[in-house]
Amino acid sequence: MIIKPIPYGHQHITEEDIQAVIETLRSDYLTQGPKINEFEAAFAEYMGVKYAVAVSNATAGLHLCTITLGVKPIDKIIVPPITFVATANCIRYCGGEVVFCDIDKETYLMDIHKLKSMLEAAPKGTYKGIILVDFAGYPVKLKDFKKLADEYGLWIIEDACHAPGGYFIDDEGKKQCCGNGEFADLAVFSFHPVKHIATGEGGMITTNSKELYDRLCLYRTHGITKDSALLYENHGGWYYEMQELGYNYRITDFQAALGISQLKRADAGLEKRQKIAKQYNQVFARVENLLIPYIADNIYHAYHLYVIQVKDRLGLYNYLRKNHIYTQVHYIPLHLMPYYQGLGNKKGDLPIAEEYYEHCLSLPMYPSLTDEEIRYIIKKIEKYR
Ligand SMILES: Cc1ncc(COP(=O)(O)O)c(C=O)c1O
Repeated sequence: MIIKPIPYGHQHITEEDIQAVIETLRSDYLTQGPKINEFEAAFAEYMGVKYAVAVSNATAGLHLCTITLGVKPIDKIIVPPITFVATANCIRYCGGEVVFCDIDKETYLMDIHKLKSMLEAAPKGTYKGIILVDFAGYPVKLKDFKKLADEYGLWIIEDACHAPGGYFIDDEGKKQCCGNGEFADLAVFSFHPVKHIATGEGGMITTNSKELYDRLCLYRTHGITKDSALLYENHGGWYYEMQELGYNYRITDFQAALGISQLKRADAGLEKRQKIAKQYNQVFARVENLLIPYIADNIYHAYHLYVIQVKDRLGLYNYLRKNHIYTQVHYIPLHLMPYYQGLGNKKGDLPIAEEYYEHCLSLPMYPSLTDEEIRYIIKKIEKYR
């Protein structure tokens, strides 16, 4: 009999993680120490990308991306509505305009056909960029979006917060990992506790562009540089210059130590998530009025979330709560948030996202779920009428 509450997501901290943090706390560095570079290098290698920039959280990371790409007031950027608010807010921080594009019925990712229609319907140059989200851990097929983006001169930010380790196989049979910088200019990951890799708060930006990398590093630390090759003047060893308006969006050394330790288990965590999804799928595919997540052959789903569509969502949510299973809803469409309604969006604008929202529910999905808990969740859902 299970009485311990089961959340929809949870961090997995081992004794090794704790020791890694303790070791750093005992070292000379708390903020800018060697663990940050080490974490960035290990993460870049894991993702198969040239550069990685660790940041205080993914929201700060997304903001750094929009500053670095030069988003200005009145610039129009296209974003999907089914995502966390931070995906769109990073455009607003720079004064840009968020334009929503509806989602695909099956994958719940931005619908490329709708995007194409939007681009064709507006004079060239109307839009500056697109933010694509690997929602729930399902990798966006970025190669197709990149082709379209190039046609219209748009940059791409990949919000890969849900998808470290996810990948798709492209039309040439090549494995394309989320955040590998092959198609998106910049990609952002989150290390919030419910994500695959947890550092408390924390995030990472990846890119293959040296130019963007240098600017990200500058804006991450107040716009300050000490690089003698870049200084306008040089008064001695202490000298630095603030050359741009930047921020303090740095991560700390002990968080980076935790990240390094967690990264070592990233593949094992993904495998466990895949295994849980298979167990759920096997049973839930036969449950009436319930739709399991879409799966495709050429996709490796990172399963940050396991999202079902269910006819009586409120009923199932309350029933599971009574049974100590705490599900969640991802997400309330962004265009229906009072803030974004205040900017001219309204109900009815994005029918697929709105219909999706009426029925979506995220079931527990995290590597430390026990077999007993998985069986309990499955049994409870099977029994629900
Ligand atoms: C898709 C997506 N983007 C951005 C963020 C922001 O991440 P953070 O909490 O690290 O700022 C989140 C966090 O939940 C997210 O799910």
